[in-house]
Amino acid sequence: MARKVTLETLFRHPIVQKYVGRSGMDHAITVAEKAFNIAIKSGVNPDLAAKAGLLHDIGHYQWYTNGKWDYQMYKQNDIHAIKGAARAHKLLVRSGEDLENAKEIALAILLHTDSYLPEGSLELTPLQKVVAEADTDDEEPGGKHHYRQIDQRTALARIQMLDKKLNAISNTII
Ligand SMILES: [Fe+2]
Ligand SMILES: [Fe+2]
Repeated sequence: MARKVTLETLFRHPIVQKYVGRSGMDHAITVAEKAFNIAIKSGVNPDLAAKAGLLHDIGHYQWYTNGKWDYQMYKQNDIHAIKGAARAHKLLVRSGEDLENAKEIALAILLHTDSYLPEGSLELTPLQKVVAEADTDDEEPGGKHHYRQIDQRTALARIQMLDKKLNAISNTII
């Protein structure tokens, strides 16, 4: 089935540039690539996995006190997964994404971390597991993964490469 929205369309959107750029474009693209690879291996829809990977941290807010990142404040107050799920959903729907896909991607973003949830265990769907695993796999101590730099041209080339792979897959599935 042809894809209604490409990663490139999402990547070029000002909302993505602003908010995903804020939480780390290199991290987002790496998680999209990892989610794609894990999805292929585990029989999960790679298009949904890559999109959720790219957008998973779109809900981040900057927690600064006197110009310095305040980790404590972030830990106590952060709801980036909730905000990200809503923001990504709106963006996907407005971009013309299939509504069922938009919901699945938003839920995978909502559950990519449990840091904001009360203690307990959740039964994640395969797609949700793929995105959480890809994110955890790219984490660096002290949140350094959010600060890795990437230039715009390299970022776009990596996004286009993923789109190419996804288009090839969607054309063979019909
Ligand atoms: Fe996150
Ligand atoms: Fe992340």
